Amino acid sequence: MLGGADTVRALVETFYDVMSEREPALARLHEVTPEGRVARGPRDRFAMFLIGWLGGPQDYIEHHGHPRLRMRHGRVAVSLAMRDAWLRSMTAAMDAHGITGEVRAFLDARFADVADFMRNVDG
Ligand code: HEM
Repeated sequence: MLGGADTVRALVETFYDVMSEREPALARLHEVTPEGRVARGPRDRFAMFLIGWLGGPQDYIEHHGHPRLRMRHGRVAVSLAMRDAWLRSMTAAMDAHGITGEVRAFLDARFADVADFMRNVDG
């Protein structure tokens, strides 16, 4: 419904571009380039994950094993502020790619649920 893997990759690029430009505290939790932009590694891993998570090829699980998202975020302090910064970045990226209607409503709800589930520090 989203247009396949290439659309998801383009969405993920925009997501991390928005994060790098507008949410520096969140961007800095990731591997960044000398210019402070989220690096290629996190972008490629998240894109591979998202393609599989949305019903595409399960390459992420083949390459990295089960996502175990809470475990993989264990070393990251995911606060309320970081959750909201993550959701703002994804909302801006989905707006930029004109994702609307049923699939948008589905993604808004799923991302909000999973982002909240990632919280692992108070406040
Ligand atoms: C709620 C706020 C969130 C924050 C602050 C956050 C932060 C991060 C950071 C800093 C990394 C890099 C970890 C590393 O380099 O070891 C990461 C990786 C990742 N995140 Fe998140 N994340 C959030 C929400 C989410 C959500 C909602 C999803 C899924 C829908 C997600 C999926 C992933 C995946 C798949 C990876 C790559 C894991 C790997 O293969 O190493 N994250 N996240």
